[in-house]
Amino acid sequence: MSELTLTEALKEHSRTTHDAVDNLVMSMQPFASHDNYRKFLQAQYEFHTTVNPIYHNQTLAEQLDGLANLARLDRVKSDMKDLEVEPFGKDVEQPTFTDSEAIGWLYCVEGSNVGAAILYKEAGKIDLSDEFGASHLAAHPDGRMPHWRDVKGKIDALPVSDEDKQAAMKGADDAFAYFKRVIRKIYDVAE
Ligand code: HEM
Repeated sequence: MSELTLTEALKEHSRTTHDAVDNLVMSMQPFASHDNYRKFLQAQYEFHTTVNPIYHNQTLAEQLDGLANLARLDRVKSDMKDLEVEPFGKDVEQPTFTDSEAIGWLYCVEGSNVGAAILYKEAGKIDLSDEFGASHLAAHPDGRMPHWRDVKGKIDALPVSDEDKQAAMKGADDAFAYFKRVIRKIYDVAE
């Protein structure tokens, strides 16, 4: 693991989990109708609300330039407004994380913007776009991949110990697991 950058190690560590989350989300057919997509927005709202404090974490903000600008909660809220969706609200848990675990959570939520290229395309088929309902899935103005490379570079430049790296792996596991639980709860499907 030591030869890998932190984000490479996170990718390696999360591959199987990622694919399970990807399959779970797609099996809910979030882009089959606006109503299905509304539930997806409620899930995104829970996820982005949970991770939002990370973008305003003072220690991380000092080390990661432009951190606060990466937050997508406002976009999720604006998409919800477009489609008249309220937060799910019932029985949603609030996970907690240490500062070093937060790095893994950040990797997870920022990386989710890469796969969002596929989701954005699907959203287009039900008439959603950057302008209406799907702004949180839209590409960064710099382009999705250049932006992701930039974010990865910043995460990889963080001063982390081996212990922090382990904690970041746990954080990524927790983030993916949390997203799965949120999806199951909101779409009302069993484990
Ligand atoms: C719902 C369907 C999803 C699809 C179809 C999807 C698809 C993808 C694809 C195609 C990539 C690029 C893989 C690569 O370049 O090697 C990717 C990357 C990623 N996705 Fe997803 N994804 C989905 C959901 C999610 C969710 C819900 C999360 C997080 C909660 C997530 C987190 C990530 C991360 C962290 C990466 C970056 C991997 C890396 O380059 O390190 N994805 N996704």
